[in-house]
Amino acid sequence: MTLRIAPSILAADFTALGDAIRAAERGGADLIHVDVMDGHFVPNITIGVPVVRSLKRVVTVPLDVHLMIADPDRFLDAFAEAGAATLIVHAEVLPHLHRTLTYIRSLGLRAGVALNPSTPVVALEEIAGNVDQVLVMSVNPGFGGQTFIRRSIAKIRAVRGLLDAAGNAAPIEVDGGIDRDTAPEVVAAGAEILVAGSAIFRTADPSAAVRELRAAATAGLGVRRP
Ligand code: DX5
Ligand code: ZN
Repeated sequence: MTLRIAPSILAADFTALGDAIRAAERGGADLIHVDVMDGHFVPNITIGVPVVRSLKRVVTVPLDVHLMIADPDRFLDAFAEAGAATLIVHAEVLPHLHRTLTYIRSLGLRAGVALNPSTPVVALEEIAGNVDQVLVMSVNPGFGGQTFIRRSIAKIRAVRGLLDAAGNAAPIEVDGGIDRDTAPEVVAAGAEILVAGSAIFRTADPSAAVRELRAAATAGLGVRRP
């Protein structure tokens, strides 16, 4: 198991995204998490394909692209072409989730599925063998800086159990309210990829914040239960 830190640029200064990414990478970021929102699936509008394409020119780690959009199927090719390494789609908007995941993989990308806090783990049951990553939302998607929903800890354990039962070692990612306090708890529950926006970019030193988050998260490995 590999602990990975994925800084979310949603909390960065959009006039200086290159600087934000360089700072995160200096601190040892493993991925850069990009929050794409369309004002339909979530009550906010953020960034789209052209920004991902620009980010791709400066980033040295994989781009982890979280699609909070109502009709992701329409944009998979474009985000792939723009340079995404992983495309994460929300189970709530996809009646043909198996088809969508299969298509993302056919593009040569990693296929991730995200679950909102109110979406039950059973939504993954039939596709547990077809995912490369599961994103457990620990806030309602749409905004950075929200409070971690504690129920997410039990949900991470349940998702890990479901993936293990399917023989799938795909990592669990957790997104929303992750900081030095919540990181060890989610890692102890089985999360391997930690997304953090405010805890990294709303600090004076984002590089140090990445290192500190990793140190805190690593403490959670010691108390992990099978
Ligand atoms: C929320 C986004 C998150 C967000 C996390 O809808 O999916 O990635 O940037 O922000 P923090 O870490 O501030 O909760
Ligand atoms: Zn996200």
